[in-house]
Amino acid sequence: MASPDPQRYHVLTFGCQMNAHDSERITGMLEGRGMVAATDADDADVLVFNTCTIREKPDQKLYDQLKHAKGSKRRRGGAQVIAVGGCLVEAQKDNLLREFPWVDVAFGPGRIHDLGNYLELADGEGAGVGHVPGGGEGFYGIGDERQFASELPTRRDRPHQAWVQISMGCNMKCAYCIVPSVRGREQSRSFPDIVAEVERLAAEGVREVSLLGQNVNSYGNDLPRDGSPRTFAELLRAVDGVDGVDRIRYTSPHPAHMRDDVIAAMAECDAVMPQLHLPLQAGSSRVLKAMRRTYSRERFVGLVEKIRASISDISLSTDIIVGVPGETEAEFLETVEVCREVRFDGAYTFIYSSRTGTEAADMVDSFIPYEEQQRRLAHLIDEVRAIATERHQRFVGTTQPVLVEERSDRKVRQRLHGRTPHNVKVNFEGDAEPGQIVPVDIVHATSESMLGRQLVPAP
Ligand code: 5AD
Ligand code: SF4
Repeated sequence: MASPDPQRYHVLTFGCQMNAHDSERITGMLEGRGMVAATDADDADVLVFNTCTIREKPDQKLYDQLKHAKGSKRRRGGAQVIAVGGCLVEAQKDNLLREFPWVDVAFGPGRIHDLGNYLELADGEGAGVGHVPGGGEGFYGIGDERQFASELPTRRDRPHQAWVQISMGCNMKCAYCIVPSVRGREQSRSFPDIVAEVERLAAEGVREVSLLGQNVNSYGNDLPRDGSPRTFAELLRAVDGVDGVDRIRYTSPHPAHMRDDVIAAMAECDAVMPQLHLPLQAGSSRVLKAMRRTYSRERFVGLVEKIRASISDISLSTDIIVGVPGETEAEFLETVEVCREVRFDGAYTFIYSSRTGTEAADMVDSFIPYEEQQRRLAHLIDEVRAIATERHQRFVGTTQPVLVEERSDRKVRQRLHGRTPHNVKVNFEGDAEPGQIVPVDIVHATSESMLGRQLVPAP
């Protein structure tokens, strides 16, 4: 008898790098069950939405797509498992299945393994996927039993680059942020487990690793103080010591936890790249205090000076929110001033979005009108773009070692792109293969990327 066609899956990912990494684990787990990638969402036997809830926009996008999925499931006569995972599940656990009853299974962040358990059960009942065991309540993975996604198999899109999760959750209480309530308390992954994963990745040919956590530089605070290495600085040094890993990056650190030992490790470890994402959020000390960021404008600027004194040509990027409740025009202009002072190489800029359950959500009396938020955002974007363009000019005329990511145009072999040590994207023509590090002459730079020419044929 011919074996049945394998089941097909499709994973749609919203949000941050942590989610993108979780999706690699979801994909790896599904492939471990013998499934193959579907051509699109409608074609999938198992359709997974890995959600984000940090701002309102991704919520809306998801709801629209879930409504679309209702139709595709109906067209398949109900033979489609619709799974929803990630941060929005935790935030909406009381409403999600009521409002979208065609969703079969929901699992919170850190509960990917529960999707596997669910599919296992569905298979075990003999009905194949699509059958909801237990009468369709379909709720898994809400609560405390979180697991590091890194314990699961993975499937990476880029064989030479990998994310490595070092912690989950966050203990900070930023007034605007929903992450602590959906991802839970901070929990550090075991130090030897992280190093072992990096060693495994290096043996598989990975050349660049990015250490991931909501607040990476508070890593280790919850680990036992038994004399064995446990701080983030020690972790950077240990990963730097793994043979074959040429490039180490990490995201995101908290400015308040950026200790001297981390700066020293960055300066001294050859593989730790001269690049740092340091979220500012706002430039006014009054707003920073209201945000509960635990640093002032002066402390942030002082920290940048200290970092630059140790790592002279470091690239700095940041996150900024405009129009938080009560932000005055003068306070917004302080954010612009800090950007001019610090001269970021890039910035992710956001309009404040009120999230139910956060401290800032209660400040309704001081909400800033949306049009005003948009005006501030446009102003800020103009500023950060101009500064980033200027900053990138320092590379024009230099030769940069570029780690080739992939071909920009799959049909044209010579059109490639990759990243410099400072994490600037370079488009260039050459004959290198993805995963190679090749010298590239930089001929032009904008705020977002650069144009280059490969100097010598790839080895
Ligand atoms: N509204 C807008 N932006 C937010 N961020 C976090 N919460 C909110 C919110 N409620 C931004 C912060 C954070 C980035 C990941 O998202 O700048 O660093
Ligand atoms: Fe979105 Fe934040 Fe969750 Fe990432 S951690 S998926 S950005 S809400």
